Amino acid sequence: MAQYTLGILGGDGIGPEVTAEARRCVDAAGEKFGFSASWTEYPFGAEYYLKHNVTLPPSAFDDMAQHNAMLLGAIGDPRIPPGPLEQEIILALRFHYDQYVNLRPAEAFPGIPLPVPLPAGETLDTVIVRENTEDLYMGIGGAGTGKIASSVAAERGLYSLRGRLDAELSGGMDCAYSLGFMTRPAVERVTRYAFTLAKKRGEKSVVVVSKANAVPHLYGFWDAVVRETAAREFPDMEYSTQNVDAICYLLARKPWGWGVLLCPNLFGDIVSDLLSALAGGLGLAAAGNIGDGLSLFEPVHGSAPTIARTGRANPLAAILSASMMLSHLGESAAAAAIVSAVKAYLVSGEPLPVEQGGTAVTAEAGDAVRRRI
Ligand code: IPM
Ligand code: MN
Repeated sequence: MAQYTLGILGGDGIGPEVTAEARRCVDAAGEKFGFSASWTEYPFGAEYYLKHNVTLPPSAFDDMAQHNAMLLGAIGDPRIPPGPLEQEIILALRFHYDQYVNLRPAEAFPGIPLPVPLPAGETLDTVIVRENTEDLYMGIGGAGTGKIASSVAAERGLYSLRGRLDAELSGGMDCAYSLGFMTRPAVERVTRYAFTLAKKRGEKSVVVVSKANAVPHLYGFWDAVVRETAAREFPDMEYSTQNVDAICYLLARKPWGWGVLLCPNLFGDIVSDLLSALAGGLGLAAAGNIGDGLSLFEPVHGSAPTIARTGRANPLAAILSASMMLSHLGESAAAAAIVSAVKAYLVSGEPLPVEQGGTAVTAEAGDAVRRRI
């Protein structure tokens, strides 16, 4: 019998509530499909930070690395200004384990009303492949008055980046900057992932999201490396490029029929929220941070602190993220059973989660899925 060691970082707000339901669904799937999971719970997040003044202790990285995969709830708390917590936990984990793909499927599920209804015969089954280690997410930046003098430093699986940025500006005004950065191997590997996935899905083409017209250094490089990689490694596949503004417009007008969208980090973040709204809401939006080492699965929704501990959190996105985790571990039957259980629940006539207009509190919605696995 396969045995998995899984990590679980519930984090802030509704995170612990929704990951608890996801965990129960994984355990139920294990009983049914013949695997067992032992779980390590990690306490990190806002509460831990306020108590210990530590976001993520350095020892956590080696500890988590002992696991086959991880589930994450959410990070973010109104008591702490946005930035440090997210950067030092979520982004630090993505970068440390070199989770270079953020995989975000958006599928229209049965029984869920869509803001833009699908014409008969059309389906909404799109996947965002978001680059997850570079772009404006490098965490490199600075601020100053009249001049900027800051050191540039970043550690990635592929490289160490070291240097300085010095600039003076007239007028002595306050200013700030953030550095977007990309490397050829990082763009190549995410391109490879997106095209391989599209092929597996039986598609002939990939849509590449960019903005080379306004930001040519960064996104012109992105376009060129995608183009070269696709031509060299996927000569039988086609692709088209859309600027990020245009893809938002086009998606809102016609959310169906897109397939795989390959996005740089920042645009992938933004477009995935839009796409999840078009596919029925963040309540169903699952994601995986995938690399060659430890991968980490998390719902796209955040910590929603205003509804924490009210029972109004929808656990389905976390449960679907757990299904992605099982699929990543090779437990494809168990993964598919969880998705089927969610779909069966949605059309069962049983009360839906509060977030989807029903009356089922978090644990009831989790139970409704678990009973069907
Ligand atoms: C997400 C979130 C994160 C991101 C934040 C919390 C850093 O919005 O996973 O989509 O921007 O990637
Ligand atoms: Mn986001």
